[in-house]
Amino acid sequence: MYLTVSNVTKRFGTFTALDNVSIEIEQGEFVCLLGPSGCGKTTLLRLIAGLTDVDSGTVSLQDEVLSNLPARERGFGIVFQSYSLFPSMTVAENIGYGLKIRNVPMARINARVSELLEIVKLPHLADKFPGQLSGGQQQRIALARAIAVDPRVLLLDEPLSALDAKVRGSLRDEIKHLQRTLKIPTLMVTHDQEEALALADKIICMNHGVVVQAGTPEDLYHRPATRFVADFMGVSNLVSTEVIRREMPALLTARPDAPDDQFDACIRPEKIGLVADADGAATVRSVGFLGNLTRYKLDSALGDLVVESHGSLGLTEGQKVAVQIVPSDCIWVANDGTEVSE
Ligand SMILES: Nc1ncnc2c1ncn2[C@@H]1O[C@H](COP(=O)(O)OP(=O)(O)OP(=O)(O)O)[C@@H](O)[C@H]1O
Ligand SMILES: [Mg+2]
Repeated sequence: MYLTVSNVTKRFGTFTALDNVSIEIEQGEFVCLLGPSGCGKTTLLRLIAGLTDVDSGTVSLQDEVLSNLPARERGFGIVFQSYSLFPSMTVAENIGYGLKIRNVPMARINARVSELLEIVKLPHLADKFPGQLSGGQQQRIALARAIAVDPRVLLLDEPLSALDAKVRGSLRDEIKHLQRTLKIPTLMVTHDQEEALALADKIICMNHGVVVQAGTPEDLYHRPATRFVADFMGVSNLVSTEVIRREMPALLTARPDAPDDQFDACIRPEKIGLVADADGAATVRSVGFLGNLTRYKLDSALGDLVVESHGSLGLTEGQKVAVQIVPSDCIWVANDGTEVSE
């Protein structure tokens, strides 16, 4: 294992921001730290960077425990959420800053800066100041500055969150390409599950200062461990065992053998089939056209359901339908008491 965080706890006064958190990043891996606002993502990143002290637990790189190593000696590259370029330095000076304070000769700095400007596709901006750049350009420069020193780990704290959707999408692809090319182990914080699914080799999902689940994007989407993860990783239909037992008992075949209140069913919207049926038990409440797919909201015996289909099913509001679900598409998730968001 390359970077290891073991049993880290961090308190601010009486508030526990991180509670016995352990995570691992392998050499070359792109890991996304995902979770709602306030769950402790930035705190964890700052602890790894050495910008905040841990109360207990350790951060180690390969076999070296980093606890007493100050941030600037860890050799990590960091990009923060809001633009953090030095406003009075040019783009080139910003990118070269880390090399300059390490007394690298000027000729080598200039060569490296030119190379990095090519990598982030902004060679024409070398002499501009940060205030003259767009948000997307500033984040590209911040990225170039972070990788200038050949960091041992790249730490990105929501680097895309201040950007509009289009710039965000293209910069997301560039970050992925860059990371794949340079193979720098990367930990990126986000609270956008789509971003995490698109970028990560591994997703670590947090809530209230604890790691709820860590795994591949496929694991978290198709095999969420808890109701919270199921709800957080995209649109889910969450139905209690009690309701399934009453309305569609055939779905119970794959359910773990445990008391009813311990597991709920999670059924993804694309896994539900609908057919027009005048005697059907469900009613289409709304039809939403989303371009590449159509989203139906239903009143059904299972409660409110969201169903998504590529292409139109030709159903209209108010129409009666029959709902079809295959037992193997019913994922049983631990009921952690999470309320379902609308
Ligand atoms: N220096 C501090 N002093 C006191 N409380 C803090 C401090 N830093 C963070 N916290 C608290 O710790 C919790 C976790 O904060 P953190 O910034 O890590 O959340 P986050 O997951 O990054 O959220 P967001 O997605 O909004 O950035 C929050 O409740 C926050 O108020
Ligand atoms: Mg944060």
